[in-house]
Amino acid sequence: MNALIINCSPVKTGATAEIVNIIDKEISSRYNTKCICIDDYSFEFCKGCRACHSTAKCVMDDDILKIMDEFDNADVIVSVSPSYWADIPGQYKSFIDRCTPWCDTHEPHASIKEGKKGYSVALRTGPGMHECDRIIQSIEHFYGHLHIECAGHLGLTSIEYKENVEPRKQEIIDFCKTI
Ligand SMILES: Cc1cc2nc3c(=O)[nH]c(=O)nc-3n(C[C@H](O)[C@H](O)[C@H](O)COP(=O)(O)O)c2cc1C
Repeated sequence: MNALIINCSPVKTGATAEIVNIIDKEISSRYNTKCICIDDYSFEFCKGCRACHSTAKCVMDDDILKIMDEFDNADVIVSVSPSYWADIPGQYKSFIDRCTPWCDTHEPHASIKEGKKGYSVALRTGPGMHECDRIIQSIEHFYGHLHIECAGHLGLTSIEYKENVEPRKQEIIDFCKTI
């Protein structure tokens, strides 16, 4: 079974990356894991032209297809996202917008293989869980329209830098046992 773990932050060595590394280490005995960072890819913003509503294809040709190949190869997808202004970072939102050809609200639409499970991990610096909940909702909304089953989530508050992750390691390890 293949697991794709996504750093939804543009920071490749920050707190989000640290959590991705812990998840990778914890589940790699049970899955073939692949870690990617949204910043590894280059793609344009969705233009809102809706051509994909009738063609199931985007008018642009960039790295979105590479990311979707990674989704298609995975049985399990884990999105790890920090709060940027109380929601997912713009880079990950832009990626989701570009997934409109795969959205099940219009016919025809493109599709990835069925039967995938999706997990969400949200982190933020502030103390309240409400922002984590909003981030998880954004990711799970996306999963739903791609027929990725929402199988679990974790919210982590009071994390700003990667040094703040170590004291929370056990929470992350316990979550990994559910994947
Ligand atoms: C542009 C930006 C906006 C942020 N907005 C929030 C916010 O609204 N609420 C919050 O709790 N933390 C916010 N943070 C803090 C991040 O969620 C936190 O530092 C997280 O650990 C960043 O992970 P990263 O370095 O891997 O991207 C923000 C950080 C940045 C860079």
